[in-house]
Amino acid sequence: MKNFIEEVSSRRTFAIISHPDAGKTTLTEKLLLFGGAIRAAGTVKGKKTGKYATSDWMEIEKQRGISVTSSVMQFDYDGFRVNILDTPGHEDFSEDTYRTLTAVDSAVMIIDAAKGIEPQTIKLFKVCRMRGIPIFTFINKLDRVGKMPLELLAELEEVLGIESYPMNWPIGMGKEFLGIYDRFYNRIEQFRVEEEDRFIPLNDDGEIANNHPMQESGLYMQALEEIELLNEAGNDFSKERIADGTLTPVFFGSALTTFGVQTFLETYLKFAPEPQPRHSNNGPVDPFNEDFSGFVFKIQANMNPAHRDRIAFVRVCSGKFERGMSVTLSRTGKSMKLSQSTQFLADDRSTVDEAVSGDIIGLYDTGTYQIGDTIVSGKSLFQFDPLPQFTPDLYVRVTAKNVMKQKQFHKGINQLVQEGAIQLFKTKYEDYILGAVGQLQFEVFEHRMKNEYNVDVMIEHLGSKIARWIEGNTVDEKLSSTRSMLVKDRFDRNVFLFENDFALRWFQDKNPDVKLYNPMDDR
Ligand code: G4P
Repeated sequence: MKNFIEEVSSRRTFAIISHPDAGKTTLTEKLLLFGGAIRAAGTVKGKKTGKYATSDWMEIEKQRGISVTSSVMQFDYDGFRVNILDTPGHEDFSEDTYRTLTAVDSAVMIIDAAKGIEPQTIKLFKVCRMRGIPIFTFINKLDRVGKMPLELLAELEEVLGIESYPMNWPIGMGKEFLGIYDRFYNRIEQFRVEEEDRFIPLNDDGEIANNHPMQESGLYMQALEEIELLNEAGNDFSKERIADGTLTPVFFGSALTTFGVQTFLETYLKFAPEPQPRHSNNGPVDPFNEDFSGFVFKIQANMNPAHRDRIAFVRVCSGKFERGMSVTLSRTGKSMKLSQSTQFLADDRSTVDEAVSGDIIGLYDTGTYQIGDTIVSGKSLFQFDPLPQFTPDLYVRVTAKNVMKQKQFHKGINQLVQEGAIQLFKTKYEDYILGAVGQLQFEVFEHRMKNEYNVDVMIEHLGSKIARWIEGNTVDEKLSSTRSMLVKDRFDRNVFLFENDFALRWFQDKNPDVKLYNPMDDR
């Protein structure tokens, strides 16, 4: 049995950031297979096994065969307990996707070798950057022809602005993929070669020591040349720079063929941080402190429509959670017993009795919690720093179809806005404008307004806009136009919604005195 300190030090909590189709599901499955958490690939992606048909996710998820939720997957490997938090992509990309990144200690970034760095990866990367969390890069699909590895490294630097250290290097790719030259373990791992012959050791000069047919290969020679270039002109390996998020270790592999995955996992576990302290209004909270504390980073409503339950996802930041324990909600000072808790493994919910710093627990919620809430077991009622605000990209104008239903309309909107999936803005004519990070949020909103508040809504799509807040909050209303719509957010702050990048630049040229900012760029 591990003691509390050992338990906490064994936690590794991360999210995978990637653009859809880069291989997040495939890699997650392979990691879970290594951890023994699932027995067959194809379990994570419900649509393949038809699991969604029988699951009780909300209707809209069933129709689309996609998940609106961020589930949490846990497995044990080599003495570590690994928590993977899912970051929904595709149409279900939402603020929750971003917020999940506030609950992890590191991130794994998957890049499709053929496509390079794609838009959703850039957005998620920015959030990790702003939080200073370490990022581990897995360049996937080497079994197919992709961009040249040096080109991919240059993209990391140019597009994302992060320096990299390749832990290994591909020898060929596609049909001619021979394996990876492992700089870190000083060996070559051969692709599609039986376990006993898979590894070729290297000598102190980093070359194949004994006679091996690989030496004859032009691809091997080319890899050696590139590695020499990396050794001379590339970045140095630095544990400290990985930890502070300024250097990303890069691994090449192929998730589908399970190649390079185990090496990646083992090396990741060596360098990924244990649970880190979280900031609060009472100073940093030490994860090894035995008083329990945690914060709600996501509230999932209607997971089971029959029960209308909500689940508040809590990141444990210190101490130990035990079922039935008493905690205080810092916002209200109210005490309560945490008797109903749940933990997630792939799609199945199972009950958790104990969790420590770094773990994620789901608490059944009957409307008690708000996103960002702190719960504590100790005497001091501190609050963790507020979660960052994410700037929506998509906007709609919304009205109630039936004017007699104004009361329910306002109640519904306000409650759904509180949950944080959508942001509310008002024009000076009191029109309601909703902003979201992903399109699906509007559909979920419409669905829930009808089903939970019995209000049919009319949605007018305004398309994508660029939102900018105003320093000092004072502005001349006359500057509002169709291309730069002036609205107020729910904290009564003025916001311009610009039609596009051109409208934003044009406005800035015309009105240099109005200082605009994007909260997401400032952290
Ligand atoms: P995502 O969760 O990031 O969206 O990606 P996912 O794992 O679903 O992978 C997207 C597609 O890429 C899948 O193929 C998957 O099989 C493929 N893929 C993942 N890793 C690799 C790899 O290492 N090499 C190759 N060649 N392909 C890979 P699909 O045809 O879109 O779907 P499926 O029906 O086969 O799942």
